[in-house]
Amino acid sequence: MSTTVIDLDDLDLFVTGDPYAAWAWLRANAPVYWNATATGGYWALTRYDDVTAVYRDPATYSSKNGTVLGGSYRSATDTASGQMLICSDPPEHRLLRQHVHKAFSAPMMERAGGFVRQYVGAALDKMTADGGGDFAVDIAPLLPAGLLAAMFGIGRDEAMHLLRLTRTMIGYRDGEYAGDTATSMTLVAAQVEIFEVLAELLDQRRREPGDDLVSILVAARTNGRELTESQILYNALNVAVGGNETTPFTASAIVETLIRHPAEAARLNAQPELLPTAVDELFRWTSTNAYVCRTATRDVTIRGVPIQAGDTLTLWNASANRDGDQFPDPDRLDLGRTPNHHVAFGVANHRCIGLPAARMEISLLMTELVNRGLRFAPAGPVERLASNFMLGIKHLPVALV
Ligand code: HEM
Repeated sequence: MSTTVIDLDDLDLFVTGDPYAAWAWLRANAPVYWNATATGGYWALTRYDDVTAVYRDPATYSSKNGTVLGGSYRSATDTASGQMLICSDPPEHRLLRQHVHKAFSAPMMERAGGFVRQYVGAALDKMTADGGGDFAVDIAPLLPAGLLAAMFGIGRDEAMHLLRLTRTMIGYRDGEYAGDTATSMTLVAAQVEIFEVLAELLDQRRREPGDDLVSILVAARTNGRELTESQILYNALNVAVGGNETTPFTASAIVETLIRHPAEAARLNAQPELLPTAVDELFRWTSTNAYVCRTATRDVTIRGVPIQAGDTLTLWNASANRDGDQFPDPDRLDLGRTPNHHVAFGVANHRCIGLPAARMEISLLMTELVNRGLRFAPAGPVERLASNFMLGIKHLPVALV
């Protein structure tokens, strides 16, 4: 493999190839790797220690240019920069985060859990009656639908509509989600429509405040000052996008993983008390959010490799989570693994604010599966999202066994 040129921008690697083999090679041979692309290139960091060190140094590695390669929010002149959690740096980031954080309160998570249980329970009843279905389509999207219904104070149909739009936005390089023309125009169109939906919601909440996320952002004050309209909209968008895509893709990846590891699945069924460590191990294993970007704010060296101010770095969570220097026997799925300091949700100040929601959704799903004694077998080919950012499963045909 020493002559192999790895291209982390080649979507085939993620749809039909083996990115884990590519990352293993990079960790061993080129942990600070320049991935050239037609429009320039970026650094790829694949070792746990390097990834976590960069996460922990926001002064040197900025989020202001966004966290997705070539996607939205890729320039500091983008209007989202500095206004939206994910693409802001301290001190703005800290101020915004304390407001958004309030929407993830324990009572809110409890209410969301009620919706999730209801939506997912009904869908699992149907799947049981049918003897199977497409887990990625029939079950997984209902997890964020329940969460968004609670967090945005909207109905199930509106939540599903928002979900479809955010899916186009994230999967704009994939023809199935983006329509026939999978271009950045699709991305822009989806984003415009999401903003229209959120702006309408903002109008309503200004007139009739509730305890939902948008109302919380409307009521937020920093030194007596309100958030601007675009701060409210961008952060509502950030929560919607963050929550709508990652969790369903993770849920489908978990079901696929359990099908491929029947002994571990049986272990969990026999010992449901393993659920908390199992959930973390499955987060490590699936690492849905494969990488995030940072931009160097000054010239710096990593492992002796010079990085220039302005260079883009990609921090490969999915690779760091299989680094043998951090995780003993990293390619073994061990639902009882502890400790398990995985980076599936990032590290430090930007660490996923939706983690309590993701944990609640996935734990509820797995509890439902264990309680109902549901076991799945493959019933057709698995189809993956054409993306190197989200390790997403679009179709997961399953039969109940
Ligand atoms: C398994 C599910 C999830 C995964 C793997 C995941 C992954 C991540 C990662 C890696 C980051 C760090 C980004 C960075 O450092 O630049 C992040 C941030 C974020 N996530 Fe999640 N996420 C998940 C679920 C959710 C949910 C359910 C929500 C909302 C309901 C959410 C909303 C956000 C937001 C708003 C941020 C930005 C936080 C900040 O910049 O301070 N995520 N997520």
